Amino acid sequence: MDKFIIKGGTPLKGTIPISGSKNAALPVMAAALLADSPTTIHAVPRLRDIYTFNNVIRITGARVDFHEDKNKLVIDPKHVSHLEAPYDLVRKMRASFYMLGALLGRFGHAKVSLPGGCAWGPRPVDLHLKGLKAFGADINLDEGYVLADAPDGELDGGTFELDPSSVGATVNLLLATVRSSNTSVIKNAAKEPDVVQLCRILTKMGAQIEGIGTRTLTIHGVDKLKGIEVQNSPDRIETGTFMIAGAMHPESNITLTQTDPEDLGKFLDIFKEVGVELEVNDDTIRVVAPDKLQPVSVKTQVYPGFPTDLQAQWSTMMTQAEGKSKVTDTIYFDRFSYVPELVRLGADMEVKKNTVHIKGKTPLKGASLMSTDLRASVSLVLASMVAKGQSEVLRVYHLDRGYENLENKLTRVGAQIKRVDNDQ
Ligand code: UD1
Repeated sequence: MDKFIIKGGTPLKGTIPISGSKNAALPVMAAALLADSPTTIHAVPRLRDIYTFNNVIRITGARVDFHEDKNKLVIDPKHVSHLEAPYDLVRKMRASFYMLGALLGRFGHAKVSLPGGCAWGPRPVDLHLKGLKAFGADINLDEGYVLADAPDGELDGGTFELDPSSVGATVNLLLATVRSSNTSVIKNAAKEPDVVQLCRILTKMGAQIEGIGTRTLTIHGVDKLKGIEVQNSPDRIETGTFMIAGAMHPESNITLTQTDPEDLGKFLDIFKEVGVELEVNDDTIRVVAPDKLQPVSVKTQVYPGFPTDLQAQWSTMMTQAEGKSKVTDTIYFDRFSYVPELVRLGADMEVKKNTVHIKGKTPLKGASLMSTDLRASVSLVLASMVAKGQSEVLRVYHLDRGYENLENKLTRVGAQIKRVDNDQ
């Protein structure tokens, strides 16, 4: 198992290219199964979650060719015959549950393992199942699997309201309904950029979807979808993570390229409040760190609000701000496993219910740290980069799930991070 050895205290200076978004690519990969011909997706990041999903898709009989040197993925759905996503793979990555909508929508039947637990508390899939039932699917649970059937080969359609709004359920319901011959309405649909990209790509494939980018999606089912060539969008969470990295050392000055500032929603404005100098262009963002970071309290919200996937990174930055702040997660109440690790570095923070109370600025001192999940792990890297002395971040396989080339990108702009095999 790999670990990072990080020497803290160096400023970041230079340019970091942003990779394609993992969370935006996964739904498009599932959508490729709905077509009758191959789909080519560009800017797919080389990440563990993408490799896992490639294998989930391959089990169905579809052909998946990942041209890793070009970040190009080709999915040919012609020979899909095995309509199942097994537990062994679904447990590795929850988004494999998108196979439920994709297989049901294309073939009228699916057998997909329930995802099971998650490091950040309960993450139910009840809305996915209730929505599919509302649209006419027969849903049965058997030995940890969901068996879904469309009684006449396709769903009847209807109206379903998501409460709360859910990215995953919106994706699954879209996938399940675009190829039926009926009309389905999803109310309180997610409008995260990942969902908007999926809707636009499905439309290019031949789907008819009204209300893209709004809270009500109306899907008029179509007979056929064709495979197409598409460009995946830049990773907004990677962008936000590096913006935070660039703000945390007073002499840092970095430019993020190949990104899309529009996808950041309100995060951009909130980020300015910490006192950074920010230069935003069409596809670049320059961050010049302030001498002193201002404390800024945030609450996570659905898009365009502050994303839960940047909550841990923000709290980490706040340990270095001059004063008190509060960070509340309203999406996932239990997503604070990184806090005790940061406290071990010297941070003054306390979790009460779904809020972490932070007193800054405290000097951080290097230590050994344990990664628990993807965003928690990157927070430990951010903290280690400003801590005095040397830190070790263990179990970085969590990071490999969602950050392409993290240590190389950061090392090139001045960070001192070495990956070593912990078992040696
Ligand atoms: C996606 C992202 C994840 C991000 C999250 C919120 C992917 C692969 N993952 O996860 O990184 O943190 O959006 O932006 O894109 N809920 C239910 N019942 C359900 C489904 C969800 O109650 O059936 C609740 C969840 O507990 C949560 C909220 O809805 O409180 C939003 O979750 P959701 O948007 O579904 O997250 P994911 O799609 O799993």
